[in-house]
Amino acid sequence: MNLQWYPGHMTKARRMMQEDLKLIDLVIELLDARAPLSSRNPDIDEMSRQKSRLLLLNKADLADEKKNQEWGAFFQKKGFYTAKVDSRSNAGLKAIHNIIKEACKEKLERDRRRGIKNRPIRAMVVGIPNVGKSTFINSFAGKACTKTGNRPGVTKGKQWIRLNKSVELLDTPGILWPKFDDPQVGERLAMIGSVKDDLINIEELSLKLIGYLQRNYPGLLQKRYNIDESGETLQLLEAIARERNCVRKGADLDYEKAAAMVMEEFRGGRLGRITLE
Ligand code: G4P
Repeated sequence: MNLQWYPGHMTKARRMMQEDLKLIDLVIELLDARAPLSSRNPDIDEMSRQKSRLLLLNKADLADEKKNQEWGAFFQKKGFYTAKVDSRSNAGLKAIHNIIKEACKEKLERDRRRGIKNRPIRAMVVGIPNVGKSTFINSFAGKACTKTGNRPGVTKGKQWIRLNKSVELLDTPGILWPKFDDPQVGERLAMIGSVKDDLINIEELSLKLIGYLQRNYPGLLQKRYNIDESGETLQLLEAIARERNCVRKGADLDYEKAAAMVMEEFRGGRLGRITLE
């Protein structure tokens, strides 16, 4: 599978983000809890030096809870403030306010020493496409927020969402580009739906996923599709196609349809809570 990103497009996004980063104290970096390393762009480390950092494992509802805990501990050990969230149902969002204060305590202390009172913490959300940035901003800001903008010191046109007295959030997230140097990273990103399906071979991808589930979540495919899961991945896809009646005219099995269905069920969480790394 040979996946390519579009450098021109991303160069512009990067430049814009660098400008926005100058305005903020805290970077809220969203990762997909199902593939926290693959959905992370390491360049953000370089770009946001000097900033406080909060790393969120988003879509935690779709990921394996045990792995959520393990990844949380992993990133904490690396020195990040971290939390797991489900932006769609707001689970875990309340706790973030306290973590933000904790993550920005040095800034708050610096302000206090300089006699600056009530300067809000300014934050921005960053992450790769489809990781849930807009959903997070909407849920986190909620209904109570007020938009502010065009004030002195704020670049014209920038919109800030006031979350409470002490935190303001930039209303447009920074888009990071995924890194495909490692083909496995590209595969995981394709599995979680961060790569357009027309760029990938869906059958090949589903076979990889089936193999992964066979090895790491034994019994799951058997239960979901009522198939014997001991064979080769292609045999399993065939069994799934048969079981789900994916046939073309002339009664040939429609592997592509079966593959697309498996991927869709995985992405929607209907196969269960699964973490890919
Ligand atoms: P982006 O701005 O980073 O590109 O991502 P966006 O918020 O558009 O979210 C991408 C998809 O991920 C959306 O689904 C959204 O509902 C879903 N999503 C975001 N956060 C979570 C989460 O914590 N848990 C789950 N389960 N899903 C989440 P969609 O299918 O594209 O749209 P929709 O059908 O939900 O409207």
